[in-house]
Amino acid sequence: MGQPGRLCYRGNRHRALPGMPGYWEGTIMSVANAVDPTDPGREFVDFWNEILAPKFIRFKHILVDGLTHHSAAIFPTLPVRQGDKVLDVGCGFGDTAIQLARRVGADGSVVGIDCCEAFLDIARQDSAASGLSNVTFIEGDAQSYSFGPDYDFVFSRFGTMFFENPVWGLRNMRTAMRPGGLMTMIVWRTADDNPWLGMAKQVVLDFLPPPGDEARTCGPGPFSMASQEAVTGMLKSAGYVDPQFKRVDAPVLVGETVEDSMQFQLALGPAGEVFREAGDLAEQRREEIEAALSEAIAPFLTDEGVVMDSSSWVITASNPA
Ligand SMILES: C[S@@+](CC[C@H](N)C(=O)[O-])C[C@H]1O[C@@H](n2cnc3c(N)ncnc32)[C@H](O)[C@@H]1O
Repeated sequence: MGQPGRLCYRGNRHRALPGMPGYWEGTIMSVANAVDPTDPGREFVDFWNEILAPKFIRFKHILVDGLTHHSAAIFPTLPVRQGDKVLDVGCGFGDTAIQLARRVGADGSVVGIDCCEAFLDIARQDSAASGLSNVTFIEGDAQSYSFGPDYDFVFSRFGTMFFENPVWGLRNMRTAMRPGGLMTMIVWRTADDNPWLGMAKQVVLDFLPPPGDEARTCGPGPFSMASQEAVTGMLKSAGYVDPQFKRVDAPVLVGETVEDSMQFQLALGPAGEVFREAGDLAEQRREEIEAALSEAIAPFLTDEGVVMDSSSWVITASNPA
């Protein structure tokens, strides 16, 4: 899981890419640039809608509220100003778009884009309940959506790591920016730096085989932008200038109880992928896997809930003026 680019390669496995220089051994860039840009990511978009949406909704309390610890460290530092026009890419349940809408004030506006309608239904309900009139949500694939150069600031929290073709997606985000506009994306660092995702996978792999090359996925995956060098290359290829990386380490709340956390891990993320792909074998071994995972999670239970370490990059880059 921690090897740079591996997830990206798996994500592109259905394309006619094996045999091309760099498919298995080379850089993310050589693969990313090779994907047909007229057909970005439909397989992954379908996966988000069909497989992940119900699980994300079930564990919204972890994905939104639990990860708030992480965002709280980052949000005040975002280079967003009153009156800005902001685009939030892969906005999910819309909580960051709503926060950004408060930041830009009545003279500014925020558009959230996501490829998953079920998330946007919740985003629209929450923004209506918040009484804000300067935030709207659109369904679309951010890699190919036809944006105008309208936005002062383009933001994505944990959205761009799932682009089938990250260079194409980042370039398309740049077309949404006015000259001199800023883009900030938050992406996870490596699995080793993120035990809240990596630890459970190791436990599950003691019982089940790793997912095969034919596994259905949501895209390159949470660690696909962990390499500073590779992402710098992606940003430059996508036409950005002055990429800056800031490491943010922060605890995250991954479940109210050990049981909640264990069920979350078996449903989503790298452990969830192993469990899902193992099918009947996983169900046969469910009891012993649940017991082992609960035992591994138990030491992280605090008065607040299950708290584990996480680490991300906050990456900012500019559209040339
Ligand atoms: C890990 S979630 C992050 C959601 C939200 N930004 C947050 O921080 O809670 C990734 C989101 O990206 C969306 N997504 C993935 N690929 C996308 C694409 N190509 N275009 C638009 N949205 C995409 C998914 O539907 C999902 O809502």
